[in-house]
Amino acid sequence: MPLDSQKIKKDFPVFTAHKTLVYLDSAATTQKPREVIDALTRHYRTKNANIKRGIYSLSEQATEAYEEARWKVARFCGAPCAKQIIFTKNATEAINCVAHSFARARFTRGDEILLTVMEHHSNIVPWQMIAKEKGLKLRFVSVTKNGELDMRDLKKKVTRRTKLFAVTHASNVLGTINPVKKLVAFFHARGIPVLVDGAQAIGHMPVNVGAFGCDFYVFSGHKMFAPTGIGALYVHQKYLDTLPPFLGGGDMVLSVSETGATFQDAPERFEAGTPPIEAAVALGAATDYCNTLGMENIRRHETELTAYALKKLARIPGISVFGPKSAAHRTGVIAFAFDDIHPHDLASLLDEKNIAIRAGHHCAMPLHRFLDVTASARASFSVYNTKKDVDALYAALAEITKALHARHEH
Ligand code: ALA
Repeated sequence: MPLDSQKIKKDFPVFTAHKTLVYLDSAATTQKPREVIDALTRHYRTKNANIKRGIYSLSEQATEAYEEARWKVARFCGAPCAKQIIFTKNATEAINCVAHSFARARFTRGDEILLTVMEHHSNIVPWQMIAKEKGLKLRFVSVTKNGELDMRDLKKKVTRRTKLFAVTHASNVLGTINPVKKLVAFFHARGIPVLVDGAQAIGHMPVNVGAFGCDFYVFSGHKMFAPTGIGALYVHQKYLDTLPPFLGGGDMVLSVSETGATFQDAPERFEAGTPPIEAAVALGAATDYCNTLGMENIRRHETELTAYALKKLARIPGISVFGPKSAAHRTGVIAFAFDDIHPHDLASLLDEKNIAIRAGHHCAMPLHRFLDVTASARASFSVYNTKKDVDALYAALAEITKALHARHEH
């Protein structure tokens, strides 16, 4: 079913508060629909209490709401069982959890972790930290000229010491969608587990971790219409019972003495302290919102918009657009650069026209080095973006570049 993004825009109160805003920074964070904002405030108004502690009915209702959200998230991303969803602060914390729990316990000096050049810093720095501590080696798979994973290089970089492959589902700069299922099959055939960073895929396309077969899948709620401060780590059943805890504290223990502690089963073992209860409930509401629109429909809408934008942007003199040429191979993330305009200046000039884009290295410095630019400008779409938004970006870029090039000629 084609989506009516003009109508969908009305679900998002921010566009009523800022009537002329052209929001093209959903890869940084999406706007929030009324349904999610209402779920958050409704929870505070009607069910606020700490969870799993109070022997009274309000606390039980809060616990039920929190666990219902876990169940919704599991169903949304295709996890066979709700216990396999661990609530975290965001995708970054989820990756740190795997690094400090899984990698620290299992990997020894000389073992290798295989990453890719297109990773966000959140899927690089936690591995660098654990590599330093344990004497591990990090290797990086290169990217082709078209912005896709270089499979020939990947095959060369796998060794008998490779203990984990950690890869983004979709690049936050190139938009490239990696063939997760194929990659998992390749690595599993060699006995190597796979972590997938789904931060830029969730909320933009159907995700089914069960069908992918991956060992870990992480994402942030705020990139799929939910509040900040809530994310998820999916763990394959085969590791769930043996992973040591990451953060210690209340609620993740069975018993504590002066000399030690015993731990709960997952997911509680990984959720130390009071979690962001209302944010988890709102994340559950965000999955409802996505399900109502239909993830296939969202993907189709964003692909059409991306194809339209790629075609229009290509007409702007002097522009370099990064990533795969075909919208079918990418998400609605379009990074671009000009030789003679700094992306920060561009973002400021666009802001004067009420167009919000991101500029900088987008927490992907190794990728920018690979692209041989220090920074890029990035427009990114979500379900509320329309062709009119793309037209506004195109018209503004055409005007800015024309004025600048005219000035250069004088
Ligand atoms: N990781 C987010 C981005 O790419 C913040 O913008």
